[in-house]
Amino acid sequence: MKLRNLIDIEDLSLEEWNELYGLASQIIAHPKDFSQALQGDVMASLFYEPSTRTNFSFQTAMLRLGGSVFGFADPKSSSAAKGETLKDTIKMVSAYADVIVMRSPQEGAAKAASLYAETPVINAGDGGHMHPTQTLTDLTTIAACRGEIRDLNIGLCGDLKNGRTVHSLIKAMAKFEGIRFYLIAPRDLAIPAYMVDFMKANNQKFVEVTNLEATMPQLDVLYMTRIQRERFTDPLEYDRLKGVYVLTRSKLRSAKKDLMILHPLPRVDEIAQDVDDDPRAMYFEQARYGMFARMALLMKMVEQGRKRPEAQPIGTGPLCHNKNCVTQTELYLPGLTKNIGGKCCCAYCDKEI
Ligand code: CP
Repeated sequence: MKLRNLIDIEDLSLEEWNELYGLASQIIAHPKDFSQALQGDVMASLFYEPSTRTNFSFQTAMLRLGGSVFGFADPKSSSAAKGETLKDTIKMVSAYADVIVMRSPQEGAAKAASLYAETPVINAGDGGHMHPTQTLTDLTTIAACRGEIRDLNIGLCGDLKNGRTVHSLIKAMAKFEGIRFYLIAPRDLAIPAYMVDFMKANNQKFVEVTNLEATMPQLDVLYMTRIQRERFTDPLEYDRLKGVYVLTRSKLRSAKKDLMILHPLPRVDEIAQDVDDDPRAMYFEQARYGMFARMALLMKMVEQGRKRPEAQPIGTGPLCHNKNCVTQTELYLPGLTKNIGGKCCCAYCDKEI
């Protein structure tokens, strides 16, 4: 596997996905065979934002591989609270660890960290931007349950504006054949412009709709998402939009018999409790598949070993106007751009410059 860091799922080739899924499948079949695979290796777990699944599944993944874990789940307990830069924190942590797993409320934070780390960096979620290991979870669930990933009508429902899991999943699906997206969201929570540009640039089939029930009969996969309260600046706006979609058992009457209902979790109220016992509800199994997918990823990342990072030019301030972009606070970062569908975009957060 060539990939050194997992920052954006876009960076993972189809061959690399197949390699990862092959390893994850072996781990699922014979987990005990891998109980010493990372013995003596250490994972740093830096969570600047709350998490249950991603944090715990990475920790248990490393422990089940025979490795060890250190880190924090509250940045107030680290020297970030004293004003230490992300760069200095990462330089220190990469001196102690063999792989870094990092979640941040800032978009592009894992990309920034990867510029200064001697060890591989895994993005465990950066603001409303990307969540590539949730996507490995989602792909593993679909592949394990359906045998392959192709020819699927996928409904993405809820907060498509702020839902990083949705953005990563769309990017990943650009590599698979016969995928059509139904983007089910109110106008105020529609998919961001940079994702529309990405889908158009990659000839992905998609339609934007607002009605979940009317779309239900077409779907092979329904991916429900939470309205992301923590990304709203106006609490009244959140109150207006919360509860906009609630999946209930009665709404599933028109659904296919083999529909897969997925959700990255946590849920609030967007899936009613009475759906949990429907055999099509896969979200708790999905979270368990995530642990196996992360075991495979950790093995591949630790294999990369240590490497001195290239010297970076000192930045002169942010090029990007996104107030949640990591470049707004880590002012030394080099200004980096990328092309998305012919537009000049920030290489940290993907927003158009
Ligand atoms: N799916 C997911 O990222 O859940 P957590 O926020 O609990 O990690």
